Amino acid sequence: MNVTHLECAACHLRHEARRLHNLCRECGKPLLVRYDLETAARSLTKESLAGRRADLWRYREVLPVEDDSNIISLGEGWTPLLPAPNLGKLVGIDKLYIKDESQNPTQSFKARGMSAAVSMAKELGAQKLAVPSAGNAAGALAAYAARAGLECFIFMPRDTPRANVIECEQTGAHVTLMDGLITDCGAEVGRRKEAEGWFDVSTLKEPYRVEGKKTLGYELAEQLDWTLPDVIVYPTGGGTGLIGMWKAFDEMEQMGWMGSKRPRMVTVQASGCAPIVRAFDEGKRFADEFPNASTVASGLRVPRAIGDFLILDAIRDSGGTAIAVTDEELIEATREIGAAEGVFCAPEGAACLPALRKMLETNEVETGETVVLFNTGAGVKYLEAFS
Ligand SMILES: Cc1ncc(COP(=O)(O)O)c(C=O)c1O
Ligand SMILES: [Zn+2]
Repeated sequence: MNVTHLECAACHLRHEARRLHNLCRECGKPLLVRYDLETAARSLTKESLAGRRADLWRYREVLPVEDDSNIISLGEGWTPLLPAPNLGKLVGIDKLYIKDESQNPTQSFKARGMSAAVSMAKELGAQKLAVPSAGNAAGALAAYAARAGLECFIFMPRDTPRANVIECEQTGAHVTLMDGLITDCGAEVGRRKEAEGWFDVSTLKEPYRVEGKKTLGYELAEQLDWTLPDVIVYPTGGGTGLIGMWKAFDEMEQMGWMGSKRPRMVTVQASGCAPIVRAFDEGKRFADEFPNASTVASGLRVPRAIGDFLILDAIRDSGGTAIAVTDEELIEATREIGAAEGVFCAPEGAACLPALRKMLETNEVETGETVVLFNTGAGVKYLEAFS
């Protein structure tokens, strides 16, 4: 076990690792896990990975669980990085890939974060887990909590896709549907958690979901033979995947696996809920709450993100950008990607395509560059959006 401590992402205050934490006790910002990477790198080598398990736990030395018996796994991670030559031809990118996260347990990339978070919650003695969710995080938490034998309390907006509600019910969670948005659900968890004895696993309000999600970055590098793409296009709500990948690139550099060159990180949001895009355009480090948030890409309907500054720092430090696309564009893109490559994307993932087109129009990406689009979930969970 190589974890040394948790560190506040804003004020850098050190927190002890071996107990349950939410936010920084001084400033209320997210905590990040720090490792002794020198020790990790002794056994975690590029060569050592060859014979390892085909899920995210292959990167065991840079994951936080101490005792292997606490790992709660349903086979998450190690999803295919699919070459997308047909789509590439359509848009004019020679080396275009889709990282297909719909092939995770519970059909979205949320499985990565929840596998790590639930494993740690179990290891550190939590009994009841609670989460506000736009849908996919709820489905993932319900599944992993069931497997861990922990009780789970889910709060989702009433208009969350039906598939997400049903999957939570069928995996034994207590489901509450609320009028309002994910922020209202988060406030409800915050109000009740102490009295109910819940551990709050809201994204970035606990330190381990980002550890599961960072394996996206390790996998990308490994699947591209220890290079990184020029551009990563990522549909952003709370931003955990983007923040996680950015952390992974740093860790890999510290372990001597790569240099300081980074992909340009591109955040995609829906124009009906684009707080990060607006903050990026206005040159702000923190994003104001987006009023009247609305989009069929439910995972992008996050009007306020506690990790806003981490997303915006990564975009800017990488020379990336932030782009909003309309619901019409992202729904049309779902059919286009499906017809070109046979991947029925979640609308959030499909949003990457119109964003890429906009970047091509403004010469922010060139034909010869390697571009990875993130399909973060499965289109079949959003039947309402396509009818
Ligand atoms: C399919 C899908 N894509 C993207 C997102 C946004 O993810 P993040 O909150 O990590 O930015 C979500 C979140 O619910 C999602 O369900
Ligand atoms: Zn702090």
